[in-house]
Amino acid sequence: MNDILVSPSILAADFALLGREVADLEIAGADWIHVDVMDGHFVPNITFGPQMVKAIRPYTEQPLDVHLMVEDAVRFVPAFVEAGADILTVHAETEKDLAQSVATIHGVGKKAGVAICPQTPVLALLPVLEVVDMVLIMTVQPGFGGQKMREDCLEKIAQVRQMSGREELRVQVDGGIDGMNVKRALRKGADTIVAGSYIFQAKSKATAIASLRRI
Ligand code: DX5
Ligand code: ZN
Repeated sequence: MNDILVSPSILAADFALLGREVADLEIAGADWIHVDVMDGHFVPNITFGPQMVKAIRPYTEQPLDVHLMVEDAVRFVPAFVEAGADILTVHAETEKDLAQSVATIHGVGKKAGVAICPQTPVLALLPVLEVVDMVLIMTVQPGFGGQKMREDCLEKIAQVRQMSGREELRVQVDGGIDGMNVKRALRKGADTIVAGSYIFQAKSKATAIASLRRI
């Protein structure tokens, strides 16, 4: 059983102050920093690319958990690794050859995650379930923060746990997570928690982050 890790999403941060925001998240107890990269094709929103990862890199020692919501994301793996990404998560829906994309990330010595959207069944993970370091179960439609968590997605966490059986596999949950619904995700077997709005809207980031670790 893995330790529960909290990876605050900087999509909810002040983009004009990202370095400072990232440094504050580390002080508040963030285990990782979740960096939502959006290309305007796979999702109807655009955020930032490798240069932004490079810019925030010096502001934290914590691993940068880069969520690539990008068509054919494998093309950009070298650039994000060069910029300082530690974990790179691609979507099963965007990759021409998912196993090859995972192998490319491993080939440069980084941790590989694979994400599935709410409408994508866990079967889509089969080609890589034995080799990925992390599965990301989206509990909202990717593209925007501040949405409500979709309860129907939680069962997919348990399905992945059942299909995999690998103790060391991390299962990340992402989208609409707060201090209450996180308990249902943890009980289903999630161990890596992404939250954006919940943390950035809280009076105390540290209290909000700590609350996400409590089953
Ligand atoms: C959505 C992103 C999520 C989102 C989480 O496409 O992948 O990481 O930023 O933000 P909240 O926690 O506000 O839903
Ligand atoms: Zn994300």
